[in-house]
Amino acid sequence: DWVMRDHIAEAVEAIRQQVGDEEVILGLSGGVDSSVAAALIHRAIGDQLTCVFVDHGLLRLNEGDMVMDMFVGQLHAKVIRVDASELFLGKLAGVSDPEAKRKIIGGEFVTVFKQEAAKLTSAGAKGAKWLAQGTIYPDVIESGGAKSKKAVTIKSHHNVGGLPEQLGLKLLEPLRDLFKDEVRELGVALGLPPEMVYRHPFPGPGLGVRILGEVKKEYAELLRRADAIFIEELRNFKDASSGKSWYDLTSQAFTVFLPVKSVGVMGDGRTYDYVVALRAVQTSDFMTADWAELPYALLKKVSGRIINEVRGINRVTYDVSSKPPATIEWE
Ligand code: XMP
Repeated sequence: DWVMRDHIAEAVEAIRQQVGDEEVILGLSGGVDSSVAAALIHRAIGDQLTCVFVDHGLLRLNEGDMVMDMFVGQLHAKVIRVDASELFLGKLAGVSDPEAKRKIIGGEFVTVFKQEAAKLTSAGAKGAKWLAQGTIYPDVIESGGAKSKKAVTIKSHHNVGGLPEQLGLKLLEPLRDLFKDEVRELGVALGLPPEMVYRHPFPGPGLGVRILGEVKKEYAELLRRADAIFIEELRNFKDASSGKSWYDLTSQAFTVFLPVKSVGVMGDGRTYDYVVALRAVQTSDFMTADWAELPYALLKKVSGRIINEVRGINRVTYDVSSKPPATIEWE
């Protein structure tokens, strides 16, 4: 694709001009925008870029390792992985209100990132001078007027307003003029795996808002395994008429952990275990959404696998609520 190659060449040149021989820090979340920004900036300035990946322990199964494998193993970028899962779990202990959980996760995320950034900027003349963010055009428009409480939280979490000033850094935002689909095309052209670039959106607070009420390590582990099965089967099941997978036919799909126990039978014995809900929606703007009419065969496969493979979960339900009045996430 010549247009995309020209665009990359231009963007690379612009980044080199802007940054010169100075060092850049970028907060890598594993999401599409920060990943594409990282890949582009790395293409332009190589080792002058250091990515900081704060792993809050609320990511999906193997996600942290996959981020490291992609950026360090394949792109040979410099990435500092901060394993903060115990810290986040500690701060979340005893907290069950959804917005309180969001605040803690977002706030702690910024605190940890700042600590790492401070180490990288403190090296005097050689210290980092730039903070790169994966801000895209819709974020720029959105910051004109916040639509909802959540929108505010979303921004305060990811593209953090005021952070460059607090860190004494200049701001580098190479995706500022691009729409989401352009960001995705750019990501593929830069060599990022299409499955990653075309992934469903994942909220900043991660599994923290998909475990209802108090977040516990045990719950997160069960949820991660159940959700991986759901996503794997969505990718496996193809719709006969379009040939597309049900993953591609849905806009967002995930599993929610319900901290209630229900009775089941297994072999000769009775079980008393947790419940999960599967959620899959179709939407164009995420403001309204329909629950997806997944094939029964797919639901059957997923529930059978989760109950058999994830000891500790004995019941699987499917969420048939549309937005509004329900929201896409359960919290
Ligand atoms: P709701 O649940 O409000 O979700 O219907 C709409 C979209 O927003 C995502 N979402 C979030 N994203 N931080 C994020 O980065 C959040 O706190 C948050 N809450 C909801 C949700 O996944 C869906 O795509």
